[in-house]
Amino acid sequence: MDLDGLDKSRLPEHVAIIMDGNGRWAQSRGKHRIEGHRRGKTSVRVIVEMARKIGIRYLSLYAFSTENWFRPHDEVDALMTLLEHYLIAEQPKMMRYGIRLVSIGDRSRLPTSVRAILEKVIELTQDNRRMTVILALSYSGRDDIVRMVKGVVADVAAGSCDPNSIDEQLVADRLDTRGIPDPDLLIRTSGEMRVSNFFLWQIAYSEMYVTPTLWPDFREKEFLQALLEYQRRRRRFGRTDEQIEEPGSAKLEAGGRQS
Ligand code: FPP
Repeated sequence: MDLDGLDKSRLPEHVAIIMDGNGRWAQSRGKHRIEGHRRGKTSVRVIVEMARKIGIRYLSLYAFSTENWFRPHDEVDALMTLLEHYLIAEQPKMMRYGIRLVSIGDRSRLPTSVRAILEKVIELTQDNRRMTVILALSYSGRDDIVRMVKGVVADVAAGSCDPNSIDEQLVADRLDTRGIPDPDLLIRTSGEMRVSNFFLWQIAYSEMYVTPTLWPDFREKEFLQALLEYQRRRRRFGRTDEQIEEPGSAKLEAGGRQS
């Protein structure tokens, strides 16, 4: 694909995506919602492939929220089956292209067969370094924070954590996303202006991009538009325009990375 206009030296290091609109895509065509998820799986493949080709280091995909467990059983089953098939099919490609897979969320709630293949692919790809794909499964930002708080409180009670040592870094290091830089760009498809309990802590300074395109239609052209828009943004991280123009502050400019 023609990547004209994209500045490869100012790519977001971490892109996070709220993949939304599968159901609407299907229903507007008189199809079952599951058809939308099936086509959404193809978008996942296409976007991972494009992110890899252009050199995005981290790609997070909100694939299944803790709230999604309340959907009709047949839809939950279909999503789990799609996920299983995706992992089985993509595992060789992840090895070939140096893609590391990690998951965030409460893995214990996943069906045994999904957990087994997920853990197998995570282990197999753990030393791959070219790109990291983060699948959010049975994940919600609040649940992540609650689990983090429980861990900290337990360690304080056991005497292994000094409350005075609690700072932003300690919190970040105890969330599921430990070791992963915060998203530079958060994309949401299907036009909804919500975060829907995805990353809460992690998106403090993320640039948001919302497109009306439904996830099953979100392909290379739409992804490129999001990246181009990101590069037009000016990131200030709470500072003034003048401050980011000071010499040595280039890391704070649009498309630049947070140190
Ligand atoms: C939102 O659409 C999407 C989901 C709840 C699941 C995302 C799943 C996939 C893209 C397919 C499989 C995933 C992988 C990683 C292979 P929605 O159903 O909420 O759409 P609606 O808002 O139009 O109803």
